[in-house]
Amino acid sequence: MTTRQKKIVLGVTGSIAAYKSADILRRLCEKGFKVSVVMTKEAECFITPLTLSSLCGEEVYRGSFDSEGRSWQMPHISLAQEADAVVIVPATANIISKMALGLADDLLTCIFLATRAPVLIAPAMNTEMYSHKTIQENCAKLKKLGVKFIEPVKGKLACGTTGDGHIASETDIVNAILKILKD
Ligand SMILES: Cc1cc2nc3c(=O)[nH]c(=O)nc-3n(C[C@H](O)[C@H](O)[C@H](O)COP(=O)(O)O)c2cc1C
Repeated sequence: MTTRQKKIVLGVTGSIAAYKSADILRRLCEKGFKVSVVMTKEAECFITPLTLSSLCGEEVYRGSFDSEGRSWQMPHISLAQEADAVVIVPATANIISKMALGLADDLLTCIFLATRAPVLIAPAMNTEMYSHKTIQENCAKLKKLGVKFIEPVKGKLACGTTGDGHIASETDIVNAILKILKD
């Protein structure tokens, strides 16, 4: 009996930690998962779609109106419904807040609302941003809604300071993804 290939949607948002998504994508593909990458517009300022598409062997999805060659499809629904897991690595303050509010102004936020698969996010941001009451409340709300978090750690941040908000390690993130696929 052959087992079905599990499908993961990997959302990438506009953080300096976006380059880490490339290694996570590589590791997931090596493990045999089919990974569809969805980048926000801002993510493209940090890592190129070409890098990620080369690693997963297919075009990446870039925003809600990404219709090149597939204008008849509705990726915000099909990707959401086919996914076994939706993971967002890294997750910015912006995407966390949009998710907490139920906004749906790009492909990734639409997928979040349309999927019933487990959702895991790996926040990454400056310490002050992460500890801001608004972000902490939005994180708490998402956790209450069932979103899983791979918590950021203390570490050196891109802005030069050291503190909470440093994205978790690639190994911890991949292990957390494997765990939600098993649960
Ligand atoms: C150099 C630079 C680094 C940034 N790093 C982060 C970050 O690590 N985390 C974060 O939440 N926002 C960060 N931002 C701000 C986001 O890019 C900005 O809020 C953006 O609108 C996020 O869009 P998105 O969530 O749709 O990808 C950074 C901005 C710049 C210019």
